[in-house]
Amino acid sequence: MDINQRVKGGTVLLGLLGNPVAHSISPQLHNTISDILGKDTVYVALRVQGDKLGEAVGGIKACGFLGFNITVPHKEAVIKFCDELSDDVILMGAANTVKITDDRLYAYNTDGSGFIRALKLQTGQDVKGKKIVILGAGGTARSISVKLAQEGAKSICIVNRTVEKARCIEEIINTRIHNIACSMGYEEAYSSKAIEQCDIIVNTTSLGLHPNIEGCPLDENLQLKKNQLVYDVIYKPEKTRLLRIAESFGCITANGLGMLICQGIEAYEIWMDMKIPQKALEQVFQVFIKYSRG
Ligand code: ATR
Repeated sequence: MDINQRVKGGTVLLGLLGNPVAHSISPQLHNTISDILGKDTVYVALRVQGDKLGEAVGGIKACGFLGFNITVPHKEAVIKFCDELSDDVILMGAANTVKITDDRLYAYNTDGSGFIRALKLQTGQDVKGKKIVILGAGGTARSISVKLAQEGAKSICIVNRTVEKARCIEEIINTRIHNIACSMGYEEAYSSKAIEQCDIIVNTTSLGLHPNIEGCPLDENLQLKKNQLVYDVIYKPEKTRLLRIAESFGCITANGLGMLICQGIEAYEIWMDMKIPQKALEQVFQVFIKYSRG
C-alpha cells in the first residue's frame, strides 16, 4: 500500500534497534505482515550506537511506541533497561523483542520459539525425542538450544571451535532445564561420530554466509545419512555449501529464512496480542522467499 495512505497520525509505531540496520529486512517483514493483516502499524529501523542505547529506549518509550525489536549488538545490553524479563530472556541472556504496556518495558526472546515454529513449517518435523547437534555457541545457538531443551529434545550436543563457549550453554541447559546437553570441539565431534549419529544438525555459525559462500562448518568427508535433517540459520545464499552437501546425501534441508520470518511473526503476535492465521503466515513466506535468493 502507498505509504501516504498507510502511515497516519494515529498509526501504531514499532521499530528495530541495532547497529547496523541498513541491511535488515525486518521493516519489510513487519510492514508486509501489517499489510496482509490490514493492521494500522508501521515499523522502522533505527541505528543506535552502543553508548546511546539507554537514551534510545527512553525516547522510544516517550514517543509512545507499542514495542520494538532489538538486534546485534544490543540484544544483551537492552535487558538492563527493561522492567520485566520473560523466562526465555533470563535463560537465553538476551532479548529480541520488547513490548511497552502502561509505561513498562516487557522483554521477550522469540529466536528460539521462531526456530521451532519454522522447523515445523519448513520440514514438518518437531524436535521431541530428537538427538540434535548445534554447530556454534553464540547467542543464536544459546536461544535455539534453550528452546530445544524445553521442547523435549532427547539430547543436545553443542559443537564449537571455542569449546568453553559451548560449555557455558551446556551448563545452562543441564542445570536449569534438563540434563541432556553435552559440548565438544569439532575434532571430538568427528571422532565420536556425534554428528553422523544425530537426527538434526543446526548450523548457527556464520560459515557459508554471503559473500563468503565457500565456507562450510563441517568436514566435507563426513558421511551424512538421508534421514538426517540439516537446518542452516543462514538464508543468504538460499542454499549454503553445507545445505548443498547435505542434499547430496539425500538429507532433509531447510534454510534460516523461516526462522527469520517466524521470530518476527512471534514478535508481532506479542505486540498485537493475537495469533497470526496460517493463511497469512503462508502469504508472508511467499513474499519473502525472494530475499533468500542470490
Ligand atoms: P550469533 O549471535 O549469530 O550466534 P556469534 O555470537 O558471533 O553470532 O557466534 C558466531 C559463532 O560462529 C561462534 O560459535 C563462532 O565460533 P567461536 O565461538 O569459536 O568464535 C562461530 N564461528 C565463526 N567463524 C568461525 C570459523 N571460522 N570456524 C568455526 N566457527 C566459527
